Amino acid sequence: MSLFEQIKSKINKNKLEISVIGLGYVGLPVAHSFSKKFKVIGFDINIDRIRHLKKNNDLNQSISKAELKKSGIKFSSNFRDMKNSEIFIITTPTPITPSKNPDLKFIYKALQFIIKIGIKNKFIILESTVYPGASENKFIKFLEKSSGLSVNKDFFYGYSPERINPGDKIHTFNNISKIVSGSDKKTCEIIYRLYKKVVHKVYKASTILSAEASKLIENSQRDLNVAFVNEISIICNKLNIQSSETLKLASTKWNFLNFSPGLVGGHCIGVDPYYLFYSSKKLGYKPQTLLAGRNLNENYPKFLVKKFLSFFNKRKINVLLMGATYKENCNDLRNSKSIDIFRILRQKKHQVHFFDPNVTQKKFGKIIFTKKPRKNYYDAIIISVSHMVFKKMGLNKILKYGKKNCKVFDIKNLFSNQKGIINL
Ligand SMILES: NC(=O)c1ccc[n+]([C@@H]2O[C@H](COP(=O)([O-])OP(=O)(O)OC[C@H]3O[C@@H](n4cnc5c(N)ncnc54)[C@H](O)[C@@H]3O)[C@@H](O)[C@H]2O)c1
Repeated sequence: MSLFEQIKSKINKNKLEISVIGLGYVGLPVAHSFSKKFKVIGFDINIDRIRHLKKNNDLNQSISKAELKKSGIKFSSNFRDMKNSEIFIITTPTPITPSKNPDLKFIYKALQFIIKIGIKNKFIILESTVYPGASENKFIKFLEKSSGLSVNKDFFYGYSPERINPGDKIHTFNNISKIVSGSDKKTCEIIYRLYKKVVHKVYKASTILSAEASKLIENSQRDLNVAFVNEISIICNKLNIQSSETLKLASTKWNFLNFSPGLVGGHCIGVDPYYLFYSSKKLGYKPQTLLAGRNLNENYPKFLVKKFLSFFNKRKINVLLMGATYKENCNDLRNSKSIDIFRILRQKKHQVHFFDPNVTQKKFGKIIFTKKPRKNYYDAIIISVSHMVFKKMGLNKILKYGKKNCKVFDIKNLFSNQKGIINL
């Protein structure tokens, strides 16, 4: 039986061993989903993360203790534990450098581990977000050069961009449609069959290049769309009209695209446009619109704070800032724009209590979180993240934290059109 026939048969019989490399917000849910069908090794260089996962504790709050216990995933920070795996799925971070260029060092490090184990007859699938051409021009060449082996003959390569949305209980790994691609048609077919085991809808891309580009386009489009409505909210403010009402009016037209103003942080939407920009510039085309929204989204917290403080006539105030994460219903604080709001207010010497029930850690750098806001204490409350837990608390409970004439700024319109709320 050929290698491909063997692998197909192993996929059919759930007899494969898969290693997932990098067990963060993406990697752990990926490992968990595959563990429902296959034997899974979960590998991470972060020894602390592995120590917690071995005790079935996911500090990212993506997978529950009971589910982790049931999964049977073998967690390890020793790369040699992956030696029997036929498939490697890489989900390591892809940040940008201080000069906003792609930083691929975590992927290279992951590839080095696999090369040390040996890549003969193995399938290497990358899920991390990269720029178009990174797989073929960089990673496959690196694998070939370092191992002396040839792609599509000795080893096989695939790319499948990840769309997981941490904290989202509706769109999960299994029901978010997945794009797969391979170094050749046969490899793509194998990867398609593999993901089909755990994901409802899988689409084959004809090239790795288009699979890589598709992910960046999705996030760049979102960045631009939110930047547009953020700009509209700034203009509405100059016009002295409410952007929430104005956008609602505009959306009564059939072809208006509905987006709400808000904070754009995290490590995907704020980063991915730079990856696409980098790749396009390398090809000799400097994009005109791609980064147009970046600056605006980066500076939107400054506009919000200025608008907010304009209600207080330069006096120093006590603020309760509700929501610290970069988006709703997760505990990820990386590149959170609420943290920018906190810092700007503190620089201006206002007292700020920073409260986020989703965040279990006490500190983030020098920032200390408030466990329990005080009652009847604040001059103003800012709700910067639309956590479900705030919605459940309800406006009445939130208003009790404020003094008699406390102003509540609801940046995400969580309690739109309710008494006592200032929507922008
Ligand atoms: N978080 C999201 O919402 C999301 C969604 C879609 C795509 N992505 C993309 O997925 C990739 C991973 O993102 P994430 O949010 O899961 O990152 P993360 O920082 O949460 O997790 C990455 C993990 O990889 C580990 N790691 C780093 N280098 C390693 C190595 N060489 N070997 C083994 N482990 C290593 C880290 O210790 C960490 O635990 C990125 O490319 C990101 O852009 C993220």
